[in-house]
Amino acid sequence: MSATGGASQTGPDNPDTPGGQDHADRQDKAEIYRAMLVQLRGLLDGCPTPVAAMASTAALLRDTFSEMFWVGFYLPADDGSLTAGPYQGPLACLLLPAGRGVCGKVYKSGRTEIVPDVHAFPDHIACDSRSRSEIVVPVCRGGKSIAVLDCDSERINAFDEIDRKHLEAVARLVEPTL
Ligand code: SME
Repeated sequence: MSATGGASQTGPDNPDTPGGQDHADRQDKAEIYRAMLVQLRGLLDGCPTPVAAMASTAALLRDTFSEMFWVGFYLPADDGSLTAGPYQGPLACLLLPAGRGVCGKVYKSGRTEIVPDVHAFPDHIACDSRSRSEIVVPVCRGGKSIAVLDCDSERINAFDEIDRKHLEAVARLVEPTL
């Protein structure tokens, strides 16, 4: 996934080696995530409200990673459905029925889901037809989901294990603020 963080697209790898550039890109992305997490930790330290925390997190992610065309939180309602929380990007579904979609699955299981191609995910809920791939990470407290963080890309297969690792770290930073 590309970022707007200004990191070099070249790395120590020999570009003639198959996969070398890809490796460099992944290294860059991890570095950008690490820098972003430092900034986020500072932002959320003493953050006054859950809304301020979630809104700032979504804004920072969207501003850091150009490929995240939609980033935001879904929060549970009493009946188990998920309602849109603070987000950045085009208008999204206000309500996701309980247990449905990628978000519902992740909320229920408490496990991150990477969807390389949303059209191949049977229960995907399309809020915007431009979305081609997605990652949804649970925000957990005491082993139970209390929200989910959803990131969408217009590119197929935009998210990988680097995104999983770092977005789960983002969720752990946000959790105490909710
Ligand atoms: N695609 C999600 C719905 C939320 S939007 O992508 C913003 C899902 O299937 O749960």
